[in-house]
Amino acid sequence: MKMLSTKLTRCNAAVLIACSAVLLFHLTKEYQFDNTLINRSYALLFFCAQMKAVYPGSFDPITNGHVDIIHRGLKIFQRIVVAVLENPKKQPLFTTKERVDMIQTVFSQKTNVEVRSFHGLLVDFARSNQANVIMRGLRAISDFEYEFQMALMNRKLDPEIETFFMTPSVDYSFLSSNLVKEVSLLGGCLKGLIPESIEKRLRQKFEQNPNITLYKG
Ligand code: PNS
Repeated sequence: MKMLSTKLTRCNAAVLIACSAVLLFHLTKEYQFDNTLINRSYALLFFCAQMKAVYPGSFDPITNGHVDIIHRGLKIFQRIVVAVLENPKKQPLFTTKERVDMIQTVFSQKTNVEVRSFHGLLVDFARSNQANVIMRGLRAISDFEYEFQMALMNRKLDPEIETFFMTPSVDYSFLSSNLVKEVSLLGGCLKGLIPESIEKRLRQKFEQNPNITLYKG
């Protein structure tokens, strides 16, 4: 009897959620987000919550600025695919596999964060992962030109995919993977700027390769 009532309660909840979704869909369609009945931003948030976003980058290595952007993104998107660029033209400090592993370690507790590597066009990767949003962080005005160019090129390549910019905490606005590598190589303190597991991996990398030179780009 108890089992039957639990099943009925679950069934009722599922029906209620499905009906609310259908109702909201029709209302938003009918009012085209303009009617006072439906606040435009709430409607947008509802749709964003259903979306999957791709967060691409070199992540050589991931910094707390990237981590901050991912956490902010998770408040908006249901799922984030961190896309690690596999670019033979660049000479990253960490291999693609190492970069993927390091990010996976940082987000091991988050089931809604996937980490994958990619090569080729970002829009192709986004499409093949059923994602229609590219998420990027904007630290300062200096980032803008490059990001603006990329966003418009990606839109030209696939008009269905939108680029979504987010600003990290001001504590990380000066932070970059290149600076992190340089400071680590020269023995500086990176406390609070990169996850502890990454700091350890950086130290190990430089200890194992004492003659390493940093490629900037
Ligand atoms: O962390 P980065 O190095 O600033 O990330 C750059 C990245 C990976 C987002 C960019 O190089 C990229 O999207 N590369 C994939 C190739 C591509 O799609 N190029 C055309 C669109 S600009």
